[in-house]
Amino acid sequence: MTSNEIRRSFLEFFQKNGHRVVPSAPLVPGDDPTLLFTNAGMNQFKDLFLGREKRDYTRATTSQKVMRVSGKHNDLDNVGPSLRHHTFFEMLGNFSFGDYFKAEAIEFAWTMLTEVWKMPADRLVVSVFKGEHGIPRDTEAYDIWRKFVPAERIMELGSEDNFWQMGDTGPCGRCSEIYYVRGTGMDPEIEVWNNVFMEFERSADGTLAPLPAPSIDTGMGLERITAVLQRKDSNYDTDLFMPLLTRIGELAGATYGANPQTDISMRVVADHARATTFLIADGVIPSNEWRGYVLRKIMRRAMRHGKMLGLGEPFLHEMVAVLAREMGDAYPELRTNRD
Ligand code: GLY
Repeated sequence: MTSNEIRRSFLEFFQKNGHRVVPSAPLVPGDDPTLLFTNAGMNQFKDLFLGREKRDYTRATTSQKVMRVSGKHNDLDNVGPSLRHHTFFEMLGNFSFGDYFKAEAIEFAWTMLTEVWKMPADRLVVSVFKGEHGIPRDTEAYDIWRKFVPAERIMELGSEDNFWQMGDTGPCGRCSEIYYVRGTGMDPEIEVWNNVFMEFERSADGTLAPLPAPSIDTGMGLERITAVLQRKDSNYDTDLFMPLLTRIGELAGATYGANPQTDISMRVVADHARATTFLIADGVIPSNEWRGYVLRKIMRRAMRHGKMLGLGEPFLHEMVAVLAREMGDAYPELRTNRD
């Protein structure tokens, strides 16, 4: 399956199961001063979780443009050496706003992975919250998972892994992750799905208050699931990155995969070219402050690594054509805002 087919099949599965397909929100959050950039699929639904807003649907599914370059979720320094981290990525998600809860969310995830995408069930390992910091063990999630997986494939982990929040404040809850055991490469186990059981709002003093209704927020990186489904050990070996890496190679006279040091620079350029293109398409302009400063930092980093690859002339703009061609169907702004 191509990444475009994987994205489409996810949205179609949830649409068939009563979810509204909602377009990705821009990378610049509308009216949330707590966020530098959209950092999760749930951001655009924050007020629905908090009960401050109602819409004409209680189930939604999205493929959300996400940046993780600051605050609670920051992967900037991993980009280059890592084969699974990105500054910009696409997060697939299904959401329930006081509609279904743990039992349905777990069953949806399991059906999507094992029946729609036909992943081998015996290669999937899951985790539940073990109980920590006064928040009890997630016995309910554990019991639901036992219907699908044997006890030895259910890990019990603490807040670091199994309690999710978008920032220091806001909706949050215990979560349950699904890992694929590929057994090879730099990441022999890779997290592919995060089911967040939204139950609390954290306030600035750290206290947790119950949400008006238990809700579901899931997140899965399209880049990781594409790597697994395309049987690659690295996100960068998928059709989401190879066209960029090939173009960088053409410009620099290099071949991706031939030299570990060069590969790091090629991955940085590919990742940062995506971030740059999607940010500018959403109206961010490089500058000396706030969001524009982060964009400028990312662009300068890409240019530095380009220089290390021997690229003496401006090259970053060359990546836009590749992205408009490969991703413009899913994100038309890449074409309309190309200039
Ligand atoms: N909001 C769920 C996640 O980002 O993993």
